[in-house]
Amino acid sequence: MTSVPNITLNDGRTIPQLGFGVFQIPQEETAQAVSKALEIGYRHIDTAEMYGNEAGVGEAVRSSGLDRGDVFITSKLNNGFHRPDDARKAFDGTLAALGMDHVDLFLIHWPLPTLYDGDFVSTWKTLEEFKADGRARSIGVSNFQVAHLERLAQEADVVPAVNQIEVHPYTTNELVRAYGFEHSIITEAWSPIAKGTVLGDPVVTQIAEKIGKTPAQVVLRWHVERGDVVFPKSTTPSRMEENFVIFDFELSDEDVDAIAGLDKGEEGRTGPNPDTFDYIPD
Ligand SMILES: NC(=O)c1ccc[n+]([C@@H]2O[C@H](COP(=O)([O-])OP(=O)(O)OC[C@H]3O[C@@H](n4cnc5c(N)ncnc54)[C@H](OP(=O)(O)O)[C@@H]3O)[C@@H](O)[C@H]2O)c1
Repeated sequence: MTSVPNITLNDGRTIPQLGFGVFQIPQEETAQAVSKALEIGYRHIDTAEMYGNEAGVGEAVRSSGLDRGDVFITSKLNNGFHRPDDARKAFDGTLAALGMDHVDLFLIHWPLPTLYDGDFVSTWKTLEEFKADGRARSIGVSNFQVAHLERLAQEADVVPAVNQIEVHPYTTNELVRAYGFEHSIITEAWSPIAKGTVLGDPVVTQIAEKIGKTPAQVVLRWHVERGDVVFPKSTTPSRMEENFVIFDFELSDEDVDAIAGLDKGEEGRTGPNPDTFDYIPD
């Protein structure tokens, strides 16, 4: 079986560099999809309260026969729960839905700088409580821009272990990634294959053809060679298997650079800009 490297976080814990994302998998299909992922060998699942499928993730882990300690589970605080008391209740709800006594990583899903009087710092300090009591083994953020990370550095005690942001060949997000490298914050690249849109790009397909790999394998390999964590989503078993086999080949420096050269900056985003995103689910 392919062996997935672990990356060491700034708190000394480790995270498998490749995981399985469950965004947009309906709750009723999640247990089956995650069971398949665990069978293939994935040991890192990325969910969120917003996805409405934490229960399915927990069910699959329990029925897998694996030790809880062998599977890395991430979830995220939903946008409506940034006030400290709400965050505490929401985190209890996440653990209850998962049926677990801890998560390996808990993130603030979005900074929401235009809401809550721009106060994501007290939200972050509430996550620090979850780390201190051991129910979140590591804590981090998602969709934080450099200014948001700098504010945490000035006003909080714990440096986020990760920042989960949109990164793929069409939006390489280099400034935020560079801040992470400089401050020991691991970048997790969400929508790593740009929801599939980058797979037909001639630069990607030509590299794939040249080295005898698929476009998805080439793009996922590009991410891991840059040091980021990835968790592609698929509910197609053959693609789940394909996406898992990215540690038996390497890309040349020229190919890594050619893929990075596809960056379109803001235009390349598949999701919202974190500076203005203010969605609160019903
Ligand atoms: N923190 C955040 O704000 C945030 C935002 C978005 C995503 N995420 C995380 O990142 C994860 C991945 O992002 P994502 O789900 O948006 O997009 P993605 O992983 O870039 O792409 C998923 C899409 O690509 C298709 N696909 C997967 N593997 C493929 C392959 N080998 N060949 C061809 N098509 C393939 C899937 O189709 P099928 O399923 O039909 O196979 C699906 O339509 C999410 O599940 C979530 O965990 C986080």
